[in-house]
Amino acid sequence: MKVSNIVFTFAASFLLVQANPTTVLKREQIVCSGQVTVSETFIGAESNVKLAQVYCPENTVPALSPRQDNGTALDVCGATCNTNCFTPSGGGPNPDDCSVIADAMRFYSQNVNDTFTIGTGTNNTVVLTYSTCETFYVNQDPVEQSYCYSDWASIVDYIAPNCQSTQNAHGGNCVAADQQWFIQVQTNA
Ligand SMILES: *[C@@H]1O[C@H](CO)[C@@H](O)[C@H](O)[C@H]1NC(C)=O
Ligand SMILES: *[C@@H]1O[C@H](CO)[C@@H](O)[C@H](O)[C@H]1NC(C)=O
Ligand SMILES: *[C@@H]1O[C@H](CO)[C@@H](O)[C@H](O)[C@H]1NC(C)=O
Repeated sequence: MKVSNIVFTFAASFLLVQANPTTVLKREQIVCSGQVTVSETFIGAESNVKLAQVYCPENTVPALSPRQDNGTALDVCGATCNTNCFTPSGGGPNPDDCSVIADAMRFYSQNVNDTFTIGTGTNNTVVLTYSTCETFYVNQDPVEQSYCYSDWASIVDYIAPNCQSTQNAHGGNCVAADQQWFIQVQTNA
């Protein structure tokens, strides 16, 4: 999908969205071709939302130059991201299913741990799925990151109903202002 297919960028009220998004990640991505599930568990009050870590035999993230890693995960919880919807209209996830994922993330954050750490690259992608909805997080930093489920839930709650057919869309993503991570919400195929 070309960058010109982007319909719009908008601000989520809970995120401090910056004005000059770069273009590199404003296109839709599958988790990855040939994705392999490393581990999975079910979370939420009804244990019905699948939380999986996957790796990609064909890594789709360009190689990043290594930089000094002091062994501490970079905390990006609360960091700014820019939202993009994917055209064309139709075939997006049911926002009600996405709400189930967001609720499960909040349940997990309140009852288990809000914070999670994630290794670098698509090899360490974290994916949550429920029925028609899927959301995943990719760390594009050359170092480990830590992020929080409560923020991820808010992003899912924002993208799912706002990147629908009526917006000429079928899901979307939120790309960190510094490009070092992104969260996508899409149809669970
Ligand atoms: C490790 O590096 C991060 C990011 O550069 C920095 O925020 C953090 O303070 C450093 N931690 C230590 C223990 O040096
Ligand atoms: C929550 O997860 C983070 C990151 O994995 C970890 O550092 C922290 O110790 C955990 N907190 C609790 C209370 O388990
Ligand atoms: C991703 O993980 C697979 C399996 O561990 C490994 O073969 C592959 O080299 C890794 N790719 C990258 C870019 O790290």
